[in-house]
Amino acid sequence: MALVVKRGRVPKTPHTEFYAKEGVLALEEIHGTYGFSGAYARKMHVRRYPTEQTRAPQPAGFELRPRSAGEPVLQPFHLLAGRLPYGGDFVRARKPLLFGPATTVSVSKPDRSTPEGEFFRNGEAHELVFVQEGEGTLASEYGELPFAKEDYIVVPKGTTVQWRLKSPKAFFFIVESLYPVHFAPHHLNAQGQATLMAPVVETEIGLPELPAAKDEIGEFPVLVKHHGGRLTRLVLGHHPFDVAGWEGALYPFTFASASHHSIAREIHTAPPARQTFQSGQAPYNGFSICTFRAQIEGWHPQDIPAPYAHYNADSDEVMFFSNTSYGARKGVIEPGSLTFHPGALPHSPQGDAAERSKSSRGKLSDYLAVMLDTFFESLEPTQAALEIADSGYPLSWARKASGEGVSPSA
Ligand SMILES: [Fe+2]
Repeated sequence: MALVVKRGRVPKTPHTEFYAKEGVLALEEIHGTYGFSGAYARKMHVRRYPTEQTRAPQPAGFELRPRSAGEPVLQPFHLLAGRLPYGGDFVRARKPLLFGPATTVSVSKPDRSTPEGEFFRNGEAHELVFVQEGEGTLASEYGELPFAKEDYIVVPKGTTVQWRLKSPKAFFFIVESLYPVHFAPHHLNAQGQATLMAPVVETEIGLPELPAAKDEIGEFPVLVKHHGGRLTRLVLGHHPFDVAGWEGALYPFTFASASHHSIAREIHTAPPARQTFQSGQAPYNGFSICTFRAQIEGWHPQDIPAPYAHYNADSDEVMFFSNTSYGARKGVIEPGSLTFHPGALPHSPQGDAAERSKSSRGKLSDYLAVMLDTFFESLEPTQAALEIADSGYPLSWARKASGEGVSPSA
């Protein structure tokens, strides 16, 4: 995020003497990316470094390692994640479904907040979370960040968090990346600001508000995810949210999917116009995230609003369907479904979607879906994904009409 934000108090000149409490030298931390060269934040801890562990690190007792489903057959997948049960907190409810060397796709359907006094830190991946259901607050050393249904939440790698639910349960679609996540570069000017033609504007992002620093001692366990989904339990002797102030361009933020202001065209609009986020350095690595939401469909008198068949050879594509209005998959998907189309295969709308889409020409659509396209990275399904796969999906294009004979079999 190019926007530099400041919360609380920090010294004007970095790495100089500063006292948040009288007579107590505050201790500075840089939370950075891309070595010392990418976006970073400068945090001022009231009196202790974030390195002060008071017990030997231990395995957390559970893991989030994606379990490969074995030698994959090349096929498209439809995963019925809407049918998964709720249970556990944000971390323990998390199920990796697809994974590759740099990207992991999971869902989490918690029915409770992070346990009181426990913290989570993803030490190996930046997280982009879409809220399908629920509301609450993401608490971190950066402050308290409210979130609601249909928001995106971007959480930088290395942020220490608690997921506090206000709703009895929640449903999150989670994409993890080795690389930082930010707005799509082709919607930014050379100074890093969203252009006047961009579907996004910085004034609509949600930022954390920093409460008073927690200057407390005790036992504070932090579950840290590392090395491909292993979890280690660290114990700090002081509260991790002991920050008197911070400033910088790396912090958790929210962005409502409704704030993605769709760009329409007289004829069909390709996904880069719908792109909200980018991870990594396009087009060499990472992924793009597109928001398919309400927009005026092409109004050319002969426009076909349904997408064309596409063989996007450098991308594996994952789509998360928040609702079922997306015409190209109508009759096939459910709310909370994911489709996974490997780059090694072309895909297209099913059945007579192209013919049917003519009736939406020039009209406002009401679909909501999130699309992930990897760049030069293949994903594979986990065992958990196979357990919720619609076995009829690979042959669903052979049927003439939408919905005809579709038999989800999870
Ligand atoms: Fe596609």
